[in-house]
Amino acid sequence: AMETGVARQPIEDWEAYHHELLKRIGIDQKLMNRMISQAKQHPKRVVFAEADHVKILKAAQIVKDQKIAQPILLGNRKKIGRIIAENNLDLSECVILDPFEEDERREKFAKILFEKRKRKGLSLFESRRLVRDRIYFGSIMVELNEADALISGLTRDYSKTISPALQVIGVEEGINKVAGMYIILSKKEPYFFADTTVNVNPTTEELSDIIGLTARAVRFFDTEPRIAVLSYSNFGSNNGEMPEKARKATEMAKERYPHVIIDGEMQANTALNCDLLKEHYPFSELAEKGANTLIFPDLTSGNIAYKVLQEIGGAEAIGPVLMGMRKPVHILQLGSSIREIVNMVAIAVVDAQNYKRSL
Ligand code: ACO
Repeated sequence: AMETGVARQPIEDWEAYHHELLKRIGIDQKLMNRMISQAKQHPKRVVFAEADHVKILKAAQIVKDQKIAQPILLGNRKKIGRIIAENNLDLSECVILDPFEEDERREKFAKILFEKRKRKGLSLFESRRLVRDRIYFGSIMVELNEADALISGLTRDYSKTISPALQVIGVEEGINKVAGMYIILSKKEPYFFADTTVNVNPTTEELSDIIGLTARAVRFFDTEPRIAVLSYSNFGSNNGEMPEKARKATEMAKERYPHVIIDGEMQANTALNCDLLKEHYPFSELAEKGANTLIFPDLTSGNIAYKVLQEIGGAEAIGPVLMGMRKPVHILQLGSSIREIVNMVAIAVVDAQNYKRSL
C-alpha cells in the first residue's frame, strides 16, 4: 500500500521506535543491527500466538515491511480485522488463522498433542480442549513445520506460556534444561545474563548445563563468551550454600567446556571490573578482559538484576532469548514494547535459519 500512493498513516510507535534508537545513540546497536540484517537475508514464517493485540499487529507490520519475517497471525479473525482497520495497518499479505474456525486442523493437532502427552495423564478429550489455546496451537504448527518459529507471551504470565511449548516442543537432544538469556546493550560491549527466566533454583549440575548453553548462545551472537559465575563471594571468601554451588558449577563447567573462558565464584563487580581483578585476583582467567557473560546462581538474582538494569540502567535489554528448545520458540516478557517484539522476531528468524544447532 505504501507504494500505491495511498498514504498509510504512520505507526506512531514505529516513529517512537526510531526516536528511541536516536535517543539511545550512545548505546552500541551493532549486535542487534547485525541480527536484523541477517534475518532479512532469509525471512522465516513466524507465528504470533497473540495476534489480536495491537502491539503484536504493529510489530507484525514492521517485520513485514522491513522483510524481517513473514508473520502468521493467530487469533480471533474479527478482532484482528478490527484492530488492523482501526490502526490503518496493511497486513493483507499475512495469513490470519483463527483456531476456532480450523475444525479439521484442530482435530489433527489434538491427536498429535494426545500422542505426545498420553502417558503424561492427558486424555484425547482434554487435548481437544487444549488445542483451542493459541499457544498450544502455535507450538504444534512449529512442531509440524507449518511455521518456522513461535512468538508468544505478551499477554500471559511467562510460566503459563512456556509450559505448553515445553510439552509440545521440548528440549533439544543432549540438553537437560532450557534456560533464558538477556542481552544487555550498553555504551560498552554487549553483556549476556543467564538464567534470567526459567530455572528457579538450579542444582550444581544444572548450573553447569546453563553455563554451556549460554556459552553457545553468546557465540550465536558472534561474540566470544568470557563467563563469570556469580555469587556474593570471591573465590572462596565466603562459605555458604550459594557460593559453593557457584564454585562447584564453575569447576564442572571448566571440565565440560575446556575451550571456554569460565571463572568463579565471584561477585558481580569483580566480574566486570578488570582493575579489581588484576589487583586482587590476577590468577583469574578473566583478569585480562573481565567478563561479558554473567551466570546467576538462581532465578531470583538473575531476574531481578536484568529488570533493575532495564528500568534504571541506561542500557537496553533484549530478550528473553530461550535457549535449548528443540525448535525456535521465544516467549516475550509480559507487556513487551513493539521494539522489543521486533527485536525478538529478528532473533527468532536467525535462530530458525540456523536451525541445525551444534555445540
Ligand atoms: N527445561 C526443560 N524442560 C523442563 C524445564 C526446563 N527448565 N522445566 C520443566 N521442564 C519439563 C517438565 O519436566 C515437563 O516434562 P514432562 O514432559 O515429563 O511432563 C515439561 O517440561 C512440561 O512442564 P510443566 O509441567 O508444564 O511445567 P513445570 O511445572 O515443570 O514448570 C516452569 C516449568 C513453568 C518453567 C517452572 O519451572 C517455572 O515456573 N519457572 C519460573 C518461570 C518464571 O516465573 N520466570 C520468571 C518470570 S519470566 C520474566 O520475567 C520474563
